[in-house]
Amino acid sequence: MSSSSAAKGKAPERVNGTDIPYELPWVEKYRPSVLDDVVGNSDTIERLKVIARDGNVPHLVISGMPGIGKTTSIHCLAHQLLGDAYKEGVMELNASDERGIDVVRNKIKAFAQKKVTLPPGRHKIVILDEADSMTAGAQQALRRTMEIFSNTTRFCLACNMSNKIIEPIQSRCAILRYAKLRDSEILKRLLEICELEKVEYNDDGLTALIFTSEGDMRQAINNLQSTWSGFGFVSGENVFKVCDQPHPVVVQSIIRACSKGEVDLAMEKLEELWDQGYSAVDIIVTIFRVVKTFDELPEYTKLEYIKEIGFTHMRILEGVGTLIQLGGLVARLCKMNMKPELFRF
Ligand SMILES: Nc1ncnc2c1ncn2[C@@H]1O[C@H](COP(=O)(O)OP(=O)(O)O)[C@@H](O)[C@H]1O
Ligand SMILES: [Mg+2]
Repeated sequence: MSSSSAAKGKAPERVNGTDIPYELPWVEKYRPSVLDDVVGNSDTIERLKVIARDGNVPHLVISGMPGIGKTTSIHCLAHQLLGDAYKEGVMELNASDERGIDVVRNKIKAFAQKKVTLPPGRHKIVILDEADSMTAGAQQALRRTMEIFSNTTRFCLACNMSNKIIEPIQSRCAILRYAKLRDSEILKRLLEICELEKVEYNDDGLTALIFTSEGDMRQAINNLQSTWSGFGFVSGENVFKVCDQPHPVVVQSIIRACSKGEVDLAMEKLEELWDQGYSAVDIIVTIFRVVKTFDELPEYTKLEYIKEIGFTHMRILEGVGTLIQLGGLVARLCKMNMKPELFRF
């Protein structure tokens, strides 16, 4: 890395007209502060906006994959509801805080009983982030508290899997499910950040960021920042170096070789990936994702390929993650495209 590229990786030192003395991670710097800026899941966000306007927030559970804006939207909601009273009116407990039964019994209860002056028609809010890491016991202790104090205090829970929240709490809450973000939604946000940070990029680089992030905005933004500060240019090549995933172009060349029945070439490319140190799981997952969107394959072949990839994935997960296993897959994929006569003796 040249020193000039390191200098280029520096963010401008001013945001919204105020000086910031150090560089924040971009995920934090560009964390939306109002619901309008949260991208994706438009129907669900619309509902939150209505709640933010009318004020009568129900107990909420927001569930979904990491990095898609759950924590962000709860904070936006709380800010929009309470305004200046946010400090007194909100208690946040996340996975890094102690959240055992005692805390629920004492701390949360004490907060719920506390008197604070809020805008009319608003409630105190308890935010329980990553609530699926709370023990069932602690959740049990919560259920009655939620009911008793519901005239003054509302609970917002965020979790990755809503089935880790015990049934009685689920039935007391409105459950909002967030879906993974669409490629176009991630792209839009990345372009905005590139613009603000004056990042140099090419289309290939953005495609790679979207491919590697799999709908996770946090990952996409983090990878953008790592690539930019590490290499000073966001190209496909650099992104894959940072993310340490098999390059889809190499995987495409394997699949292309298979579809022509060129087993030697396919094996050579496969070994190339293997020698770079990728695990069998990394490789098979990338093969699947590449085949899924590979336009050069006719529909029928694609289906047959995905079936074979599925079987191999299963074997790998069972513990047989060897080069032979992957080689076997490549051989079967090749064979499907060779004339059957070749195999008659
Ligand atoms: N829907 C989104 N719109 C805009 N930025 C987002 C969105 N989702 C995630 N981000 C970015 O990713 C970071 C992490 O989001 P967060 O809400 O903490 O994710 P999680 O769903 O895991 O709680 C935010 O700081 C923000 O920069
Ligand atoms: Mg979160």
